[in-house]
Amino acid sequence: MRPKVVAGNWKMNGDQAFSRDYIKSFKASWDSYSLKQYSGLSVFIIPPAILIPGVQACIDDSDLDVLVAGQNVAGYESGAYTGEISASMLHDFSCKAALVGHSERRALFGDTDNIVIDKVKQLLARGLGPILCLGESLEEREQGLAERVVKAQLEVVLDTLEVSECALLSLAYEPVWAIGTGKTATPEEAQAMHEFIRQIVADKSVELAEEIVILYGGSVNSANADSLFRQKDIDGALVGGASLKPDEFAEICHLCGRS
Ligand code: PGA
Repeated sequence: MRPKVVAGNWKMNGDQAFSRDYIKSFKASWDSYSLKQYSGLSVFIIPPAILIPGVQACIDDSDLDVLVAGQNVAGYESGAYTGEISASMLHDFSCKAALVGHSERRALFGDTDNIVIDKVKQLLARGLGPILCLGESLEEREQGLAERVVKAQLEVVLDTLEVSECALLSLAYEPVWAIGTGKTATPEEAQAMHEFIRQIVADKSVELAEEIVILYGGSVNSANADSLFRQKDIDGALVGGASLKPDEFAEICHLCGRS
């Protein structure tokens, strides 16, 4: 059985007071949903880097079984890279994973496939799990290119890794047209792409394809999560906007855990 994963990407939102209030409320919701019962469920909170130590401290204080991840990582080990944060720094602050190749990074900050590969390698070298984001734009979908785009984004990374290196890798299919727009892919559309992605992984290794976690992302909320989680190749969600509301995020975790 594959683990189930729900990850809340705060993007560039929040501050220290928000972090404290959030973890307090999330802990209350965690207890009321008895999220501890779902032993196969991993929950990640992905705050802006500067908030990571504070969020981690609040999680430790409230004895929450929640992991922290980075939204980004440098493609370099260390040195003269002003403004960057390395994989070993994330590791030092107890992060277990980081997003790589999020469509906002690709579109707004120039993260090319080669940069994505460097970032994945930095994370793996420090024992952190890359959550590799894949997804097509609306234009690409309308032109019938969705599968081709996603395949290219995935293969360029898979081709540079040994199967043994992929154990820590997770994938997140996030159609760009569904991110922050309120439009989510139908469960059938999402399932079809997840199945396609798993097949690409199977071309590299059948065992890896069985084990790899594939999250869906793009306007996931507590109203649409259940039907997504019922799809056989959807192992969880990468949640943006709805993860900023601790009660709603906990409800999504509950729906995933029980699915
Ligand atoms: P959204 O963002 O849930 O606000 O659409 C998802 C993401 O970008 O990870």
